[in-house]
Amino acid sequence: MHDPAVLRSMHLARFKAEPAIFAAPGRVNLIGEHTDYAEGFVMPAAIDFATLAAISRRSDGKVVIYSENFGKERVFEADALPPAANGHWSDYPLGVLSILAEEGHRIPGFSLCLWGDVPLGSGLSSSAAVEVATALAVLSLLGARYSGPALARFCQRAENEFVGANCGIMDQFISVNGEENHALLLDCRDLSYKLVPLPHDTALVIANTMVKHAVSGSEYTTRRAEVEDACAVIARHRPEVRFLRDATVEDLERWGAEMAPNALKRARHVITENQRTVAAAEALLRGDLAGTGRLMAAAHRSYSHDFEASCPEADAMVELAQDLPGLIGARLTGGGFGGCTINLVNRKDAPAFAERLAGRYEAQVGIRPEIHICRASGGARRVELGALTERS
Ligand code: GLA
Repeated sequence: MHDPAVLRSMHLARFKAEPAIFAAPGRVNLIGEHTDYAEGFVMPAAIDFATLAAISRRSDGKVVIYSENFGKERVFEADALPPAANGHWSDYPLGVLSILAEEGHRIPGFSLCLWGDVPLGSGLSSSAAVEVATALAVLSLLGARYSGPALARFCQRAENEFVGANCGIMDQFISVNGEENHALLLDCRDLSYKLVPLPHDTALVIANTMVKHAVSGSEYTTRRAEVEDACAVIARHRPEVRFLRDATVEDLERWGAEMAPNALKRARHVITENQRTVAAAEALLRGDLAGTGRLMAAAHRSYSHDFEASCPEADAMVELAQDLPGLIGARLTGGGFGGCTINLVNRKDAPAFAERLAGRYEAQVGIRPEIHICRASGGARRVELGALTERS
């Protein structure tokens, strides 16, 4: 995470006002891909990459949003905010404002500085981190508080209804509710969850294929539509099945022939992935790391072959990790079609693992990957700079 004290200085220099500072993490998903919008199970962890948001009030009725990452500032009238997205980075914070306004909040004038180190377009939820950091910052000015699940829903709505990306709830939920050293098994039907401790002697090694991915891209939308088509076929026979969460492999055996071939494969991934996700949480809870690793490997095969959401580079990154010392499990994480793999690795082996994986990938694929050794971090929070403020 970038240094909040540096962000404070930038905000002070730019806006001549003392900010309050908030941080919202990105995430890595251990298992449970494209299951969230089917009301299924996911098991992500928040990571130590985050978006920081510094906010202070203004008295001129303007909303000024500065992105340090883009080096750009945008200025709006608080009472005449844009009603629709325009494909700009500011869509994410504006989406949050739009949902808060719909919820009946009067948006005040403020200055907001955003600064993040979640790699963009890498499947680590940089957009959710921006939304959640913005939401916490603006809610602090409004003096309003929401429960973790409600806050995650607002941010998901910002992305669905304003930005126009049809994502599920996973990314926003874990950014708000993550816990240090834990993964979180989330039931996306009712948003109940169980924290799953990650063994202290393991590391989350995140390997970036450097192939860009976007949830707003057409592949994500196509997959989601195929999942919904498959569900509609089952629902013709079993009307109580509203989401694939309620469907079984037996349903596919009985009625799969009525589905388009791709819809059948996508559904098989989602249905079996739900089972694997719950099983992986149970395996971790009983300390069965080998079992967890096998489930991650099966999840990657299903994601690659049935869901067809991998790419040659991600398949190579997973394959090249297989015989490296310390590997427990590896798979492509996030929305698919590029981005990062997650490798659960024995902590003591992690540095050598990262170095050798990078070397192998570069030799085979011809791209130098970025590999990060991460820990599961806490969810979104206010960052207190008390000692620093007193000194200044
Ligand atoms: C993206 C979406 C999530 C989820 C994953 C796939 O990260 O934002 O809601 O659907 O893809 O598991």
